[in-house]
Amino acid sequence: MSFEILGISSYVPKKVLTNYDLERIVDTSDQWITERTGIKERRIADENETTSDLAAKAALKLFEEISFNPSKIDAIVFATATPDNLIASTACSFQAKIGARKAFAFDISAACPGFLYGLKIADGLLRSDDIEYVLLAGAETLSRYVDWLDRTTCVLFGDGAGVALLKRSTSFNKRILSWNLGADGNLRDLLIMPAGGIAMPFSKNALDKRLCYIKMKGREVFKNAVLKMQNSVEDVIRKAKIKSSEIDWFVPHQANIRIIEALRERLGLPKDKVYVNINKYGNTSAASIPIALREMLDRKLVKKGQLVLMTSFGAGFTWGSILIRW
Ligand code: ACO
Repeated sequence: MSFEILGISSYVPKKVLTNYDLERIVDTSDQWITERTGIKERRIADENETTSDLAAKAALKLFEEISFNPSKIDAIVFATATPDNLIASTACSFQAKIGARKAFAFDISAACPGFLYGLKIADGLLRSDDIEYVLLAGAETLSRYVDWLDRTTCVLFGDGAGVALLKRSTSFNKRILSWNLGADGNLRDLLIMPAGGIAMPFSKNALDKRLCYIKMKGREVFKNAVLKMQNSVEDVIRKAKIKSSEIDWFVPHQANIRIIEALRERLGLPKDKVYVNINKYGNTSAASIPIALREMLDRKLVKKGQLVLMTSFGAGFTWGSILIRW
């Protein structure tokens, strides 16, 4: 039992914030941001646009493209670190906006690898004979969680969404050839939004101390990201009993071009097999991989039967890699 990928779609907000725009907000420069991260611009949601809105725009576009009736969807798995509300789930707002009346719907909070965690969960759901369609979403409105006074973080992130519509299939054995998902909660303070949850509810004090925004120890995150993704990818390659030269496409989470390059070199992959679009969107967390996949499909880069290896790392820490046959 496995699944077919009926379609992948993405949406990014219209508003573009360039590095030059950022030079007017914090003490930074296009040169610093480009050299240290590879980012040139990112998208920013409108004031009244929420995470579920971004995902709904991606999903409705897909339903139209493939003439799909959303009332057929059995389950919605929604990966986000930037939910519309803490209660109720973003998945439920999304379910209502796309008219997926029959679907049960829930959020998963796994930060940047959320789409990969979600893919593994969706694969499990689709092994049950009474679940035929699963809609997986990865969407973020990180612009609301970044501290626009903190140049060490605000230049990195962007908003966006991606969805994948999956259908149970018996036509071939395995879509996911191998996987590796991991977490290390001991390192969670290295990348965290301290206030806003039960541990430290929103308060004037939290706001004054700017604890309602993302805090990150960039260098430690960088080092862990490279190491954890390298180990995770190597594990997946080993389990699939393939050589890294057999991988057709490597689709890494788009967080920093230097992280991607370090990983590519350690894994010995050629540049032309690694998909990179960080220059246009910055780090869109759980949305980054489906946005990349949709671009690759639009450009007709990925072909049926090819081996596609995705990897990601993020707050928690969480990480993961999944190898699929397209
Ligand atoms: N503009 C100009 N100068 C800056 C900026 C900025 N936007 N940000 C930091 N600096 C300065 C620092 O203040 C520091 O100055 P100092 O030497 O006078 O103290 C100097 O630049 C170097 O700072 P570092 O933090 O050491 O710079 P580094 O080379 O590590 O790059 C960065 C910082 C880009 C954040 C990098 O560490 C990184 O990408 N880390 C990974 C973070 C990440 O991607 N997190 C997202 C979630 S996890 C994930 O998705 C992988």
